Amino acid sequence: MNTRLWDIWNTGGGPQYPHAKVIQFCMRNYPPAVRSATRVLDLGCGSGVNTRFLAEQGFDCVATDISLVGLANTQALLARHGLRASCAVAEISAQPFADASFDCAITIGVLDSAGPAAARKAVSELRRTLKLGGRAICVFASDADMRVGAATAYGLYGYRHDEVVELTTGFAEVAIDRYITTYDSGRRQHNDFLVTLTR
Ligand SMILES: C[S@@+](CC[C@H](N)C(=O)[O-])C[C@H]1O[C@@H](n2cnc3c(N)ncnc32)[C@H](O)[C@@H]1O
Repeated sequence: MNTRLWDIWNTGGGPQYPHAKVIQFCMRNYPPAVRSATRVLDLGCGSGVNTRFLAEQGFDCVATDISLVGLANTQALLARHGLRASCAVAEISAQPFADASFDCAITIGVLDSAGPAAARKAVSELRRTLKLGGRAICVFASDADMRVGAATAYGLYGYRHDEVVELTTGFAEVAIDRYITTYDSGRRQHNDFLVTLTR
């Protein structure tokens, strides 16, 4: 894992607004009354744009990343908005939490950043750290995504459908969908897997 490259990415600050599918997932599954009792892990939080959204919505949020710059940005973003979340440096493949610690987990643009070997361990960590009935939403690039193979410093891994099936075995419920946005009249596309898991 090249932490320095992710420090550079996080120095740029990352996205400015939360992922649309995180908003939809949280609004659909967790009404306001249950949020303060819902412990959510933002796995690979980057600069904290989704962590901020979760904290603002009243979730009990824990954010982890390998990038110290990302975690510092997350803490600064939360502080600017008078919000709180617990932040910790951690590899996605070795999360420093007890079994069944979380009601929910989100991981956005991380399993593709980390690559398949780390992703396998990360999903196994999700299974371990989610409570029975706990849910996760995972968004990551498919092999049809325009960013895969592009000349970025960090390089994204694009998953095939069969790899995602294998990656997500062992959960009580698995939904493997796509989140696709096209550009230039369809000539280029973000083509992400949108995977929801229930333990
Ligand atoms: C593309 S960014 C996405 C950040 C954030 N989830 C978002 O939606 O803005 C990917 C993040 O994953 C983190 N990351 C990549 N590989 C990791 C690993 N093996 N363990 C922990 N974090 C990792 C990087 O440091 C970076 O902050």
